[in-house]
Amino acid sequence: MKKFKFIPALLSIMLLAFLAVGCSKDSAGTGDKGGKKSGKINVGIVLPTKDEPRWVQDETRFKDALKDSDYSTEILFSQGSSAKEKENVETLISKGIEVLIIAPHDGPAAGAAVAAAKKEGIKVISYDRLITNTDAVDYYVTFDSVAVGEAQGQFLIDHAGDGKGIPLYLYAGAASDNNAFLFFEGAWKVLQPKIADGTFIIANSSEAEALKDKADLSRDELSKVLGQVTTNWDPNEAKNKAQTHLTAASGDLKGDVVILAPNDGTSRSIADVFGSDPDVSNYVITGQDAEKASIQYIIDGKQSMTVFKDVRTLVADAMGMAIDILDGNTPETTGSYDNGSIEVPAKQTNVIVVEQENVKSELIDSGYYEESDFTGL
Ligand code: BGC
Repeated sequence: MKKFKFIPALLSIMLLAFLAVGCSKDSAGTGDKGGKKSGKINVGIVLPTKDEPRWVQDETRFKDALKDSDYSTEILFSQGSSAKEKENVETLISKGIEVLIIAPHDGPAAGAAVAAAKKEGIKVISYDRLITNTDAVDYYVTFDSVAVGEAQGQFLIDHAGDGKGIPLYLYAGAASDNNAFLFFEGAWKVLQPKIADGTFIIANSSEAEALKDKADLSRDELSKVLGQVTTNWDPNEAKNKAQTHLTAASGDLKGDVVILAPNDGTSRSIADVFGSDPDVSNYVITGQDAEKASIQYIIDGKQSMTVFKDVRTLVADAMGMAIDILDGNTPETTGSYDNGSIEVPAKQTNVIVVEQENVKSELIDSGYYEESDFTGL
């Protein structure tokens, strides 16, 4: 009998221990809640979607950075929905957060969610993507997004080969994301002179073609072009658009081509389409985010470059700001961004172009990825 009593007792102790471990694992999964006095959450983090490796990278880097933090945090994903995003912010408000770090799914639509946080006296840090048309944003941590587009455009120019009349295919991000405008603006700045002088011929956008002699595009003009060549950050939409464009393209818009693809997810799917067209002899294609799958594509010669945005720096900047705020200090900023309503004080980080030659030095030697993550390096 004793034995039987002992076993359930032991079992329940083991179960409790298991649950405790399970819980701490779970809290690590959604953010570190350790070491924290009152059980409330100090910093809430809201990311746009788990469906893109880019944002899963951010989650991982946040978790790494938070391991030894004294402050409690929780990370929630909005899964591409502004309604879910608002719900996430409300959940975090109810948990007593003092700082909200948020990468909005949709820049203008996130205004309502952050206004609710602001009302509660919570400081709001816009993360990577700017929340627009609201005064309820206190700070912005970001990469230099115009420089991302410039690097993409310059890469196409430098790798296009000689001659004139090279077909240029343009693709862009989602118009609900302010970054999509900044990326395209940067790319256009360097590509436009080469379009105007006939080096490149725009293959897939009558709106861009109509603006080819204009160096600086207004927001409205950018909107028109984006409206035509947007991928909505969706690899499937990118693939469908690329297929439609190639089906419509005449022979002189094939051969050796260059392609402005806004990020890695869309780049891989566009590259697959161009790579399987027998009339495309060679293509140069851009990307951004240094996603593992794209690094493999670069090693394999299927994607030409990516713009590496070291998420460790962005995370450190965002958490550094949050801690300054929690400690009652004023965060350091390096400039500001006009969000259509106010000038948001911002901290900006540089970006690095990665191609086959420097994958190892930039991504492996820096400890960002493991060599064993890739084949053929
Ligand atoms: C980010 C990119 C990302 C894209 C799609 C942009 O706002 O800056 O890194 O690829 O959104 O999620």
